[in-house]
This record gives sequence, C-alpha cells and structure tokens, in this order.
Amino acid sequence: MIQFKHLLAAVGLACCLCPENMQAAQQSEDSKMDQFISELMGKMTLREKLGQLNLPSGGDMTTGLVQNSPLADAIRKQEIGGFFNVMGVEKIRELQRIAVEETRLKIPLVVGMDVIHGYKTVFPIPLAMSCSWDTVAVSRAASIAAKEASADGISWTFSPMVDIARDARWGRIAEGNGEDPYLGAAMTRAYVQGYQGNNLKKSDEHIMSCVKHFAFYGASESGRDYNLADMSRIRMYNEYMAPYRAAVEAGAGSVMSSFNTVDGVPATANKWLLTDLLRNEWGFNGLLVTDYNSIGEMNTHGVAPLKEATARALNAGTDMDMVSYGFLNTLEESLKEGTVTEERINEACRRVLEMKYRLGLFDDPYKYCQPERAKKDLFTKENRSVARQIAAETFVLLKNDNGVLPLKKQGRIALIGPMGDARNNMCGMWSGTCDTDQHGTLLEGLRAAVGSQAEILYAKGSNIYYDELTERGATGVRPLQRGDNKQLLEEALQTAAKADVIVAALGECSEMSGESASRTDIRIPDAQQDLLKALKATGKPVILLLFAGRPLDLTWEANNIPAILNVWFGGSETGDAVADVLFGKVSPSGKLTTTFPRSVGQVPIYYSQVNTGRPDPNPNEFNRFQSNYIDCRNDGLYPFGYGMSYTTFEYGEMRLSQEVMPKGGNIKVTVTVKNAGNYDADEIVQLYLRDCYADIARPVKELKGFQRISLKKGESREITFTLTDEHLKYYNSELKYGYDPGDFQVMIGPNSRDVQTKTFKAE
Ligand code: BGC
Repeated sequence: MIQFKHLLAAVGLACCLCPENMQAAQQSEDSKMDQFISELMGKMTLREKLGQLNLPSGGDMTTGLVQNSPLADAIRKQEIGGFFNVMGVEKIRELQRIAVEETRLKIPLVVGMDVIHGYKTVFPIPLAMSCSWDTVAVSRAASIAAKEASADGISWTFSPMVDIARDARWGRIAEGNGEDPYLGAAMTRAYVQGYQGNNLKKSDEHIMSCVKHFAFYGASESGRDYNLADMSRIRMYNEYMAPYRAAVEAGAGSVMSSFNTVDGVPATANKWLLTDLLRNEWGFNGLLVTDYNSIGEMNTHGVAPLKEATARALNAGTDMDMVSYGFLNTLEESLKEGTVTEERINEACRRVLEMKYRLGLFDDPYKYCQPERAKKDLFTKENRSVARQIAAETFVLLKNDNGVLPLKKQGRIALIGPMGDARNNMCGMWSGTCDTDQHGTLLEGLRAAVGSQAEILYAKGSNIYYDELTERGATGVRPLQRGDNKQLLEEALQTAAKADVIVAALGECSEMSGESASRTDIRIPDAQQDLLKALKATGKPVILLLFAGRPLDLTWEANNIPAILNVWFGGSETGDAVADVLFGKVSPSGKLTTTFPRSVGQVPIYYSQVNTGRPDPNPNEFNRFQSNYIDCRNDGLYPFGYGMSYTTFEYGEMRLSQEVMPKGGNIKVTVTVKNAGNYDADEIVQLYLRDCYADIARPVKELKGFQRISLKKGESREITFTLTDEHLKYYNSELKYGYDPGDFQVMIGPNSRDVQTKTFKAE
C-alpha cells in the first residue's frame, strides 16, 4: 500500500514536470494575467495609459524630500510607469507607497537601475567576466547582484549588455562579452538566468533583466560612441544577432533599443528591427524600452522632432520611453491626428502592465521594499567571498617569462603605479551603486596576503596622464589625487631601488572605458608608459599588473616586460583577488574574449575573420598584392581564447568518432588534457569549426564549444564535444538558415591560434 502511494506520488511529480503540463500551467497563468490586465485597462483613461509608458530618471534625493519631489508629484498624477536611478529602499518604498495608496488605480511602479556587474558587492566588469568562460560563475554573480539590488528596492536591471564588439577604441567594449557570438550567447543566457531565476513572480530575490542594446551598437563606426553602425544583413545574422536572440530564448523580460542607427533609421524607431525581427521572427513578447532619451535624440539625428519621432518609435514597436517624455506629452495629439492608433498604445500599455504582473508587483507592490533585507543582504561576507573567487578567474596571464610569477612572499616587493592605492578605482565603469570607501586597495590586499613574510613598499609613480585636463576627462567621477610628474617619478625610482622585484600597477583608470569613453590611442597613457620604461631601466624584474577596460596595444610591453597579468577591473574584491593570483594561491585561468591588437591600425580585429581571396602567405614579411599590411602582421598580439597558467597543460591527439556526419547524426570529438605542471589549475578547452566551402565566404574558424575544467597537478581528463548539424548551420546569401553538406574542419586547442585540426564530411 505504502509502495503504491509512493508510486502515485512519483507519477504525480513526473506529470507536474512534464513539458505538456508545464505548458498548460503557463497557458493558464497567461490567461489569468490577460484577464487581470484587460480588467485593469478597462478602467484606465488614455492619459493613465500613457503615464504607464513613461520612464523618467529619478535622480538622487534625500529621504525627507521624497514626498515633495517632482517624482512623487508625477506618481500622484499617474504620469509614470516606473523610474530608475533612485538609490535606497526607504525612498523607493515611500515612492511605491504613493503609487499604491495615493492614486486612483493603485498601479505599482517598476524600479530600474543599471546593475551591470554587481550592486554593493561588485564583480569584475562584464568583459572580464566573459574571460572566465564560466557560465556558472556568471549566473551566480548575476543572482547575487539581483539579490542585493532587490533588497534595496530595485526590480529591474538594465543588463546584460550583449553587444558584440571588435573595436578596442570603443569604451563600451568593457560592458559586453567580447567579440564572439557563440561565447556571447552562452554568457547572455547565464546572466538572464541569474537575474531572473526560475520564478520571478514568486521570488523577491530575482529581478527582471533588460538585454541591451538592440541592436549592433557594438559596431559603432570608428569606435566612437553613439556613432552609426552599418552592416550587411549577412553579418547581422551570422555575427551580431546570436546573443540578443539567446536572451529572448532565455526569457529575458525586456529589451532596450540602442542609440545607433540601423540602415539609417535610429534603432528606437526601426520597425524592421523592433517588430519584424524581434517580435515577429523571434517571438519576443516582453517589454521594449528605449535607451536614455533616444526618442528625443531623433531630433539631433536629423530624423524627426519629438512628436513625430515619438509616433515613429511607438509605431515601430517601442513600448516605454526612457526620459524623452514624448510618449507622455505628444501621443494624445498624434492619436487625434491619426499618426498613431489606440490599439498600438493599448498594446504598449499592456506590455508595461504585464511586466509588473510577471514581477509579482500586483500581488505585493512592496516585495522589493523590505528594509530589513537591505540591512542584511548587502555586501555580505559570503557575497564578497564569491566575488573574490570569481575575480581571480577573470584575470588573464598574458606573459610569464621564466616563471617570474607567482611571486614568493619574501624580501621587498615594490608596488608602483597610480592604480596601486586607488580605492575608488578598483571596480571599473558602471559601478555607481557601490560604496568605494568600503573597498580594499591593491596595496592593502598585497600587504594582507604577505603579512610579516615580506615587505610591500609603495609609490604612486606617475599620474594617469601628464596633462591635467586629459586626466580630468579620463578619471571623470572617480578622480585621483594628482602629483608633480617629476617628483612622482623620482619617488618611484627611490622605492624601486630598495626592492627585489617591482609590481607596476598601470593602465587605464576606471572611467576610461564604458559609456562615452572612446580612445584613439589604445596604449598605456603617456606618463605611465614613461614610468614603466624607467622601472625596466632599473634592471630589476618588473611585473606589469594591467588595469584595463578594453584590449590595449601592448606591443612595447610584450617585448620588454617579463610578466604581464591583465586584471581588467576586478570589482570590490580586486585587492585580495589579485593577491591570490600574484602569490600563487590561485593559478590564473582567464582567457581573452577579445583579440589584443598589435596596433590601433588593425582595429577592428577579431579571430573569426572571413578569408579574402588573397590570404597572407607569410606573416613574417610584407607580401604585395596579398591581404596584409606593409608595416604590421595581420594577427593580433594576443589571440582570442588566449591566456596562460602557472601550470602547463598537454593536449593529446584529437579523435573523431567517425569521419562522416550522417544527416541528423553527430560526431563526437575527444581529446585528453593533462595538467603536466606543478599547480592545480583550471583550463578552458576550446573547439572551433571551419566550413571549407559554403554558399558565402565563411570565417577561417568559429568557436562552437568550450569546457572549463579543473585539473589537479598530474591529473588527466578526457574531454568530449558532440557536434551535430546545428553547429554547422549559418545564414546563407538568401538569409536561409542551414548548412552545406561537404567538408568541415574541426579544431581543438587552448586558444584560437594554437589548435590541432581534423577534417570530416557532413552529409
Ligand atoms: C546607456 C544605457 C543605460 C541607460 C540608463 C544610457 O546612457 O546607454 O546602457 O542603461 O543610460 O542609465
């Protein structure tokens, strides 16, 4: 009898989880939502509906003033659907109270924020996170960010940014996952899952994700921010779309359109992009919000003044207007004039309300406003310890001659450079939510790690730039104390003279990447370059600890400095995480997700180039009438997928389960990887494919699989990838998705350059 009961329970459980049941449950939930929203909308005036489509920025405000703020007024007038950029649960709770107690319809507000790489506990910048190739870690970081943000009143994050970027001049390369669509899509799924969890409506620790910037923003011409992005459909479909699409498939609740034009039309008002592609082709049913004032900016684009721009944005598929106030203030008139329809306004309003419904805000408008959570869930020891571990995974060891690293905890170590003791600069761009005064510096991290075993000396050594004005622009909201250029250098040399080894903490400061931070010279800034040269001239071993939000041109450094550890911007726990790697507690394992160029002249550069009809036959010399440069090789200085370890990994010979992939079948690709060195370490095994002949010219290689593995010293593991025809597909000249039977090359290796290759046939 008991057994029978168990059986029933098991069958019951299985039924609960089977796809048909899940689908049915979803359908019933959706129809409940539809009914609820239809009833609510039945009571709404046109003006109230337009209010829902309006998303202003809150700006910051002090607690006492919340009730009398312009934002509170706008809420009382039901002129906003939500707001963003207000910090602090008490204030947000009060604003929510006004919405649900002092308005006719009591519709709760959605509260947004750019929680880009953490909230109070800050994780490495997204470009760095992608270099971990660790989707579990990325998801974990996103869920911690969501937990902290949600404890402080926030229900919606404008993240992840998934724009493929191949131009190091563009500062926003720091915000994304690098150059590759396959990796970008994997990271995107991890972020969305981490932010939203499995049951957004029920959970108060997850928040809605907003994937951005739709679309192609990463291809800003000349790497200049906000510039146009112009490309063929083939390139859009095969190279740039995968991460956005992955976000939609992963259930991202909202999408933000981009500032750039697409085929001449600002993305905000591009119907092909927002409706034909996103809604109709991909089936996106969430909310579509503009970027900051991008409807208003259609005026300066020279496309349309506010009223017309607003109508175009709405008609193209935009649901919510960030900051332009066009939806609130011009749509009534446009409706009268017949340039927009009530149906489209209703549809947009429905999407905003659906978003709130999916967040569970109609069940409990205060679900994200629990002050007691804010007291215990932010910047916790546990969160910080995860951030420290993850940060160490994102550092990329670019060079390590004669095993200079890891350093021994002995003697005197000179930490020199403007990033060595810069508490407010460890997190990198988009970290406005954190409290930098609570973060350790690199100097503190190193001192804590060595204790009394070694002495850490410190000198700032140089300003960021010689020129004060340039430095002011570069450091922005996170200024550093400036010193006299000459005196700083003298102090550095005196400090270096006392030390056995020099750690030079140089590169970019925090605000030199991110939005509105494009550069034409992507070398280490002048004053710091001179400092590095002077340190090298001392003859002591120099380790370059590189801070950067983009790939830099490190040609001089690669030729002159024995060890380079690129630590990007590691977040609030940078100091300790760098110490963990520098002294060998953790072996570096990050691998580049963006090619490091030899010179800015190669940019945009990426590994998955399409072959020309005249590929360069010999990279060591210039070859006239071939596709190459007179003064530089074609390949990058450090390739995509590249990163060293303290240990050595040996790859055995790759094996294929068969040489022909039958239609609908698969091929298993196996390789044995051995940790043959002296440190336990992680390796990222990468698989690339090349389509030998296709309808269009195809890349010389494309990432199609990767596995991050941990191996103890001496340990070996057999790694298997299963290739199916899905891996072979692409969009052909008619934008049809499929593959061409014939020869393919499969490559496996520790990076995109050092691979072994085998050929197979697909039927
Ligand atoms: C940025 C977005 C951001 C928004 C809101 C814009 O300037 O492009 O990425 O989410 O501001 O802060």
